[in-house]
Amino acid sequence: MSHSEDASGTRRDFLYYAAGGTGAVVAGAAVWPLVNQMNPSADTRAASSMRVDVSGLEEGVQLTVLFLGKPVFVRRRTAAEIEAAREVDLSELVDPLARNANLPDSAPATDADRTLAPFGDAEDTGEWLVMQGVCTHLGCVPLGDGAGDFGGWFCPCHGSHYDTAGRIRRGPAPENLPVPVAEFVDETTILLG
Ligand code: FES
Repeated sequence: MSHSEDASGTRRDFLYYAAGGTGAVVAGAAVWPLVNQMNPSADTRAASSMRVDVSGLEEGVQLTVLFLGKPVFVRRRTAAEIEAAREVDLSELVDPLARNANLPDSAPATDADRTLAPFGDAEDTGEWLVMQGVCTHLGCVPLGDGAGDFGGWFCPCHGSHYDTAGRIRRGPAPENLPVPVAEFVDETTILLG
């Protein structure tokens, strides 16, 4: 891990490591350009699945993993984030569908239908949220760590606000951030794809 100061003096922490030989992981604030300007390496494109070690991920922290050339956010939500997401009435949502590749297309966008269950019989407290970090408007990478008017993510490209479950709440984006195929394969490892 290395630490650096950006021009405005705001500290940014970056953590990079190879996961399964492919992909990079970034922790903390990262503003990336349009996804279609990224140039994933051939081995990243070829990988159809990826294991993500979340053993060091503390509550209230997000990892950004590059998977198949696109960022995937893995956030361990705080109790306040979970509560905020769960108290939203579904009638308030712009997009009523969960957009969760692990569920039927018709699954509603409840908080429980957006989050990833822990391994085995562990109690599902709703703390794990895994979703593609690609704005559903034109593909920018939204800012996290409580950004935006709903405490979740904010896409500065054209002003789309997502809540703490990654659901679009305001702005031009039409759909919730998509949840990719994912599962816990042990207590601390998420398998993407
Ligand atoms: S790309 Fe996110 S608001 Fe336009």
